[in-house]
Amino acid sequence: MKNITRLITILFGICALMLLSACERPPIESKQTGYRGTGMDQVSNPRTDAQLAKINELPPAMPSSPDGPKASAVYKNVKVLGNLSTAQFGAFMVSMTSWVAPKEGCTYCHNVQNFADDSLYTKTVARRMIQMNQSINGNWGDHVKTTGVTCYTCHRGNNIPQNVWFNTVEKRGGNMLGNTNGQNDPLKTSAYSSLPNQPFSSYFVSNASAARVIGDTALPNGHKATLQSTENVYGVMSHMSSALGVNCTYCHNSRAFTSWEQSTPQRIQAWHGIQMLKDVNSNFMTPLASTFPSNRKGPDGDVAKANCATCHQGVNKPLLGKSMLQDYPFLAPSNSKPKDGNQIAKN
Ligand code: HEC
Ligand code: HEC
Ligand code: HEC
Ligand code: HEC
Repeated sequence: MKNITRLITILFGICALMLLSACERPPIESKQTGYRGTGMDQVSNPRTDAQLAKINELPPAMPSSPDGPKASAVYKNVKVLGNLSTAQFGAFMVSMTSWVAPKEGCTYCHNVQNFADDSLYTKTVARRMIQMNQSINGNWGDHVKTTGVTCYTCHRGNNIPQNVWFNTVEKRGGNMLGNTNGQNDPLKTSAYSSLPNQPFSSYFVSNASAARVIGDTALPNGHKATLQSTENVYGVMSHMSSALGVNCTYCHNSRAFTSWEQSTPQRIQAWHGIQMLKDVNSNFMTPLASTFPSNRKGPDGDVAKANCATCHQGVNKPLLGKSMLQDYPFLAPSNSKPKDGNQIAKN
């Protein structure tokens, strides 16, 4: 009898542990970020905050003097960084190596017999990436502010950033489900939900439509969101939340998801982020398709593209809002000012 009681106690204990295993160990803190009574709170935990602080430490900086002869006067084949001093140019090559190819070194992009040679595709890609980086910092200040980005924001020591996406090719299960549109296939990209797991080609490339569910008239005579487009919206919203490590109320007042007036300023900044991604993916990444070798491409023959997680990696501001631009001022061209006059499209 005693044994049975003991067994039941143990079984009960195991059940209780299993039930609690999905709970987060305290201390859990919450901070009100919006109107009172609307549940607009952000939840955090000092333990996970400490982990995030660790993985978002900045790499060692390489400050360098802008004085001295220009790179264009010294080197043979400099098409983008000609205005840098040779000191800045050399320091940037070393930084770029540590950000993108720390294991491979200079040979990742260069034929070391002749540094001016452009035969490696990685060098051609890197040159375009420098221009892309300057465009993000120069033209998309509405999103990246003066914090800006460097190669490290996306690459973090990897040849290919850890969070990228490819076009999906229609996947038909061997059953009657037809095209599942990436549903019931939980991936990190859509926060392990059963929602479409690759909704990005609907929003993060140029000529994509705005994410809309709610019509602006009482009767659906103009705007009609289909079931599939609605699922895509929730899929991409789940991605945005998990990429930033926040919940929906970081941007929305959940009593009226559609209302911009009741949303937080972060929603507007996020909107500019979506427009920035369209520019990055369609004007910089996609045209590089013919430059990349086939082992770098997806099943659709397309290049890997960026989404919110490429830069953010689980925090509301990439690298916790620390800027690296003071040491690399040439990545933020002072002559181009942030784009303004962007209107929130209401289609
Ligand atoms: C991620 C790719 C990449 C890595 C790694 C890299 N470079 Fe470069 N390098 C470039 C690009 C791109 C250019 C051309 C820049 C331009 O057109 O403005 C260049 C140009 C140069 C040039 C000018 C050559 C000429 O005469 O035109 C030198 C010198 C150079 N790099 C040295 C180095 C050294 C030394 C290292 C290692 C510490 C290195 N690079 C690592 C991409 C890279
Ligand atoms: C917005 C994010 C982002 C930034 C910023 C960025 N990259 Fe990239 N980079 C990517 C993505 C995404 C790919 C993958 C493209 C592919 O494989 O199809 C990539 C690929 C590359 C590759 C090709 C690597 C390979 O092995 O095929 C090189 C080289 C590279 N980037 C260099 C740079 C350099 C140098 C900088 C800074 C001047 C930079 N990148 C900044 C997103 C970024
Ligand atoms: C980082 C900010 C941010 C987060 C977090 C976020 N959203 Fe959004 N949401 C937006 C933006 C920006 C739009 C408008 C996108 C556009 O114009 O393409 C939007 C649009 C929507 C819409 C369509 C509204 C309409 O007018 O039809 C719905 C519904 C929605 N979000 C739900 C959610 C849900 C549910 C979550 C949490 C899983 C969430 N959002 C998390 C920024 C955010
Ligand atoms: C090229 C890198 C990059 C990409 C891609 C990117 N962001 Fe950002 N984002 C940044 C930087 C840098 C900041 C910090 C700007 C600042 O200092 O306010 C930022 C800030 C934000 C903020 C403000 C956070 C706060 O607490 O004030 C929001 C919201 C945001 N991003 C949403 C998004 C969403 C949603 C996406 C995808 C649609 C996205 N971002 C894609 C670089 C990026």
